[in-house]
Amino acid sequence: MKGLILSGGAGTRLRPITHTSAKQLVPVANKPILYFGLEDMAEAGITEVGIIVGDTRAEIADAVGDGSRFGLKVTYIPQDAPLGLAHCVLIARDFLGDDDFVMYLGDNLLRQGIAEFVAAFEADRSHTSQDHVDDDPPSAQILLAHVHDPQRFGVAEIGDDGEVVRLVEKPVDPPSDLALVGVYLFDPSIHEAVRAIAPSPRGELEITDAIQWLIDNGRRVRHEVVDGWWIDTGKLDPLLEGNRLVLETIEPRVDGDVDEDSHLLGRVVIEAGAKIINSTVRGPAIIGERTVLRNSYIGPYTSVYYDCEVINTEIEHSIVLEQSTITDVPRLADSLIGKEAVVRRSGARPRANRLMVGDHSVIDLE
Ligand code: G1P
Repeated sequence: MKGLILSGGAGTRLRPITHTSAKQLVPVANKPILYFGLEDMAEAGITEVGIIVGDTRAEIADAVGDGSRFGLKVTYIPQDAPLGLAHCVLIARDFLGDDDFVMYLGDNLLRQGIAEFVAAFEADRSHTSQDHVDDDPPSAQILLAHVHDPQRFGVAEIGDDGEVVRLVEKPVDPPSDLALVGVYLFDPSIHEAVRAIAPSPRGELEITDAIQWLIDNGRRVRHEVVDGWWIDTGKLDPLLEGNRLVLETIEPRVDGDVDEDSHLLGRVVIEAGAKIINSTVRGPAIIGERTVLRNSYIGPYTSVYYDCEVINTEIEHSIVLEQSTITDVPRLADSLIGKEAVVRRSGARPRANRLMVGDHSVIDLE
């Protein structure tokens, strides 16, 4: 079994952050989202992983290297333009050979990891599973999750016999609330499917259509409904939600300096070199390496990445990327602050909000 991680894509729904960096490298609980997928692959016993990369190739390669840090051997597969998930399979043909593989969207987070799903697919493929001894081995396995906004996803319709009968991408009128999770398992018959389909109305070769092609051609597509949480982090609110969910699971740890006027409450991680001065951190929260908090309050569900400065400020339910400075801001919530950003209250007269804001930024004033 090989792994294929998709890390091309323009990340338009996370602009302006993605004007300058890859959405898969935005940190959740101070760890790039992509690392969660790589760790899940390693945990599932996969060693050879292909990563599809686009314009942000250099940055992804910098962050992941040859994969040895994760116990993986990584091959980079360049995609010239974001032409769809099925297009990724098409261009990974040589890397994948005739092996089964798991495909993982680099911006998805799945609480359970993938080990049990990979094991279930392999067991069913080798007919050791008790459930389907009389059936053909499955050609694919999809994961589904109940969501309240199925229009945003690929959606599955389950027939009376409990099998998937139809898959539709971003339906206006969804046949169910079961969204396709961005983790798929395939046997080599998917290569014929991705060659057979035509681009969708959004101009992409959809993996959803390729799986539908398998069903239409009499292949068995197995499915499982995930019971832990699953987040497609490609937009601000789900990203903050993913940060919240991962922070719920961190083990408290203090590797930095906390002065005697400061208080750490609940599940808090203070990374090495961080300095907490006359400040309160109420977890779940994580403060990155060498970040300085002074006269500040960091509230629940906040991740501040490395080399930041937070002075006379209150922040909660937010993600702050590296090397940013936030000064004299009485209350910041539900926010994503980019790298090397400066947010401050100048106090200058006449009083005014002075902004120098990147393209596609969103600012909500109180
Ligand atoms: C893609 C798939 C969709 C799936 C989703 C999961 O959507 O096309 O079927 O439900 O990932 O994250 P996209 O992120 O390309 O809009």
